[in-house]
Amino acid sequence: MTAAVRTQVAIVGAGPAGLVLSHLLAEAGIASIIIDRRSREEIESTIRAGILEQGTIDLLASIEGSRAHTVGLRHDGIELRFDGAGHRIDFAGLAGRSVWLFPQHEALRDLLAARIGAGQDIRFGVTATTVEDASGTLPRVVAVDDAGTGLEIAADFVVGADGSHSVVRRAISGSHDGYFREYPFGWFGILCEAPPSADELIYSNSPDGFALISQRSPTVQRMYFQCAPDADADAMSDAQIWDALQARVPGHALIEGPIFQRDVLRFRSFVARTLRAGRLAIVGDAAHTVPPTGAKGMNLAVADVFLLSRALEGLLLRSDERPLDGWAEAALDRIWKAQHFSWWMTSMLHVAPDATDFDRHRQLGELRTVVGSEAGRTYLAEGYTGWPLG
Ligand code: PHB
Repeated sequence: MTAAVRTQVAIVGAGPAGLVLSHLLAEAGIASIIIDRRSREEIESTIRAGILEQGTIDLLASIEGSRAHTVGLRHDGIELRFDGAGHRIDFAGLAGRSVWLFPQHEALRDLLAARIGAGQDIRFGVTATTVEDASGTLPRVVAVDDAGTGLEIAADFVVGADGSHSVVRRAISGSHDGYFREYPFGWFGILCEAPPSADELIYSNSPDGFALISQRSPTVQRMYFQCAPDADADAMSDAQIWDALQARVPGHALIEGPIFQRDVLRFRSFVARTLRAGRLAIVGDAAHTVPPTGAKGMNLAVADVFLLSRALEGLLLRSDERPLDGWAEAALDRIWKAQHFSWWMTSMLHVAPDATDFDRHRQLGELRTVVGSEAGRTYLAEGYTGWPLG
């Protein structure tokens, strides 16, 4: 059995990109249906990064019931550590902007509650399999739910916010064609019960590799250290994890506590070659991946859909295709800046497994250049706090 429904915009994926898009479209009076293969509980419990640029937090905070400004914490700077010393990068003073630590799953809880409260049609446990009539004016998302019942959504426009294994991307480019880079390391991440080890995030370069000391709340902390890309998250004892973390933040004592979650993050950079074809577009992780060092993932997703919502208003409310024709180029402008920033932070802070003594000294020279001049610190502050939306 297959049910057939019709809407203006079919959105595949109820992550930040899909949910924010449905909100912006609804504000403009455009109807959408969202499907996601996951359950609501699964979406709300997926642990992801949590640094949001000012433009992202402002957009989220404007949504009914948002806790962005109550659960979220403003950070006016970070500490870069290398050679045993810390150097503060004063975002507010250098770039006139701050960032907010607001864990993605908290943002998702707010967004789901707001969209469901507003009567948004969201169908969980529904997996998209293909997009039919992809080159026509009424493409159809073909999907199946967990019980095996089929669903076809015919829409004026289909948006793939369906992550790195995007079905919509396949319909656009015929393959997973794009610009790709792998890194010879990953991050070992933990959540632990402990007070914060520092007021602000610490990005630390050390001879043993990189570590990031982040936070979640006054009682829960998130920390990462550089590891092999195929590291096994269960292979280390808690004591070994603390030793590894502490060794990578020399000169700054970390406050230890029980570790209750651990994972290994893979590092890659990716940009799809084609973001839009006819009445199909991809956004967020379906369109690009960045390594987490620059904290850009969710910000890019929100920027993609902010621009796309404007373009879809042109198409669907005024029959004006011009904004849509310029959308991919506008989105890519920001995507490639963020790709560069994430790559730059990653290569400046990590120690590649095959790094020579030359590489190591060059890297320290780069770090000293960045922290040693206002221009260098401002470059980092502007990239980290992001570029204004729209
Ligand atoms: C995090 O808190 O999970 C986090 C913060 C900053 C990053 C990456 C991850 O660059």
